[in-house]
Amino acid sequence: MILELSDIHKSYGRHAALKGLSLSVREGSFTALLGPSSAGKTTTLRIIGGLETVDRGAFSLYGQDALDVPVQGRDLAMVFQTFALYPHLTVAENLGYPLRRAGLSRAETATRVTETAEMLRIAHRIAVKPGQLSGGERQRVAIGRALIRKPRLLLLDEPLTNLDAKLRDEMRVELKRLHRELGITMLFATPDQLEATSMAEQIALIDDGRIIARGTPDDLYEAPRSAKVARMLGSPPANVVAGAATPRGLSLGFATLADAAHPSGQYVIRPNHLRLDPAAPDFRADVVLIEALGDSTVLHLEAGDHALRCVCFGETARTVRIGDEVPLRIDRDHLRALPEP
Ligand SMILES: Nc1ncnc2c1ncn2[C@@H]1O[C@H](COP(=O)(O)OP(=O)(O)O)[C@@H](O)[C@H]1O
Ligand SMILES: [Mg+2]
Repeated sequence: MILELSDIHKSYGRHAALKGLSLSVREGSFTALLGPSSAGKTTTLRIIGGLETVDRGAFSLYGQDALDVPVQGRDLAMVFQTFALYPHLTVAENLGYPLRRAGLSRAETATRVTETAEMLRIAHRIAVKPGQLSGGERQRVAIGRALIRKPRLLLLDEPLTNLDAKLRDEMRVELKRLHRELGITMLFATPDQLEATSMAEQIALIDDGRIIARGTPDDLYEAPRSAKVARMLGSPPANVVAGAATPRGLSLGFATLADAAHPSGQYVIRPNHLRLDPAAPDFRADVVLIEALGDSTVLHLEAGDHALRCVCFGETARTVRIGDEVPLRIDRDHLRALPEP
């Protein structure tokens, strides 16, 4: 493991930001720290980066206890959410700044600046000042400035949050490419599950100051260990319902699945595993809201006192109106029981 945090506690005044957080990251991996706002993502990265102390817990970097290692000795770089650049310096000077400060010669610095600018595809913008750059270009310079010293570990705090949707798509691909080409360990914080599942090899889910689950995107999506984890991955969020085993089958409150021999417990029904089915419906539900997303339609449904979501594809979905009562079928093959809490 390149880094290991164990049972970290951190409070700001009386407010506990981290409540026993444990996290480990493998050398060379691309790991996402995924969680909602205020979960403790930035605090965690700042502790790893040496910008924040801890109240309690253990932290090792590269196999060595690192709590007392100063920032400069950590061989890592951090890209902040607001990718602040020096406004009065050119792109080349912004990129070269960390090297000059580290005492590299002008010539060496120039070579590395060119190299880095090419890697980040901003070589043609090297002479201009940040004010003349687009948001995406500024982001690339900030990442370049972090990478130019060839750190062993790169921390990225919501690197894509401040970019518009199209740029975000582009930078997702870019970051993956950089990770592959450089082989550097990357740990990035994000509140966006799509970003995490599409980019990361490993995801650590953070909630209220603790890591509540970790694994590959597939592991966490296919076999969530709690309702919270099930809802944090997948969009729209999963339906989680209580099921009771009865002599007539599995009763979900709004439907009874006679052909399903399932034990009592909590069940995950992904929105794409509920489908409009007039021929063999399990139950009927009222449509309360419709989101048309282009190639798919999200139906917000009410069945008894259960709020459910369903994703539909194709023509039939387009004929549905708010207020309709629609017939639905649950895909048996994808009905997932959560483990006992
Ligand atoms: N310097 C600070 N002073 C007081 N409270 C803070 C400070 N930094 C973070 N917090 C609080 O700690 C919690 C975790 O914050 P943060 O790590 O920034 O979460 P995230 O990055 O996941 O949004 C939040 O409730 C936040 O308000
Ligand atoms: Mg943050």
